[in-house]
Amino acid sequence: MKQKRFINYCGFLICFVLIFTLTANDIQADDSKTLIIYYSRTGNTKAVCESLAKELNAEIVEVKDLNDRMSKLGIIGGMLKTILGMQTKISPEKIDMTDYTNVILSAPIWAAKVPPAMRTAIYMNGFKDKKVIMLVTCDSFYAEKYQKKTSELVEESGGEVLAFYQIYAMEEKGKEKIERGKGKMVEDTVKLAPEIKKMLTSE
Ligand SMILES: Cc1cc2nc3c(=O)[nH]c(=O)nc-3n(C[C@H](O)[C@H](O)[C@H](O)COP(=O)(O)O)c2cc1C
Repeated sequence: MKQKRFINYCGFLICFVLIFTLTANDIQADDSKTLIIYYSRTGNTKAVCESLAKELNAEIVEVKDLNDRMSKLGIIGGMLKTILGMQTKISPEKIDMTDYTNVILSAPIWAAKVPPAMRTAIYMNGFKDKKVIMLVTCDSFYAEKYQKKTSELVEESGGEVLAFYQIYAMEEKGKEKIERGKGKMVEDTVKLAPEIKKMLTSE
């Protein structure tokens, strides 16, 4: 009788240790493997990325443009640099990605490209062996030929782009285009999160 109870006890203990180890590995995979790097000028991309970080249990880093892009001159300068494919001063310059296999790069679209702060972050940080997902916010559809060019920036830095997503800041109402607001953009992102999670865990 005592022997049977001992065997039962050992069986229970083994099951417990197995379940705990498997769950701990799962939690660790979700917690530590994905890093979101974003640039945002007016907060749309920031809101989208913060909601995605919560959904994916991911770490998040904001890249700041050290030139003031809120002033008229600043945005004109930013647009020019975007069109010419130039870089800008950013902070942080170097982002430690050693603990991460997955990186989500997120930025608004300016003149069909990523702004200088994101371009600089891509150039300054290699993406060798990283699985990268691009997530942009934009007013309207970001055409595939431009998506491809933006992806090439990452691929030239050694990363593998798994997917390209876009979240819209504007919508049509009758003949007008109106802002959708951050709330709706976040809703779209939350809907997208399971697909992104699946992609990152199955790769
Ligand atoms: C200078 C500038 C250029 C833009 N160019 C485009 C564009 O080419 N295509 C587009 O769909 N949206 C364009 N937009 C809209 C932004 O991509 C969109 O509002 C984005 O959500 C802003 O993100 P943020 O709030 O994170 O800065 C532009 C916005 C600015 C300020």
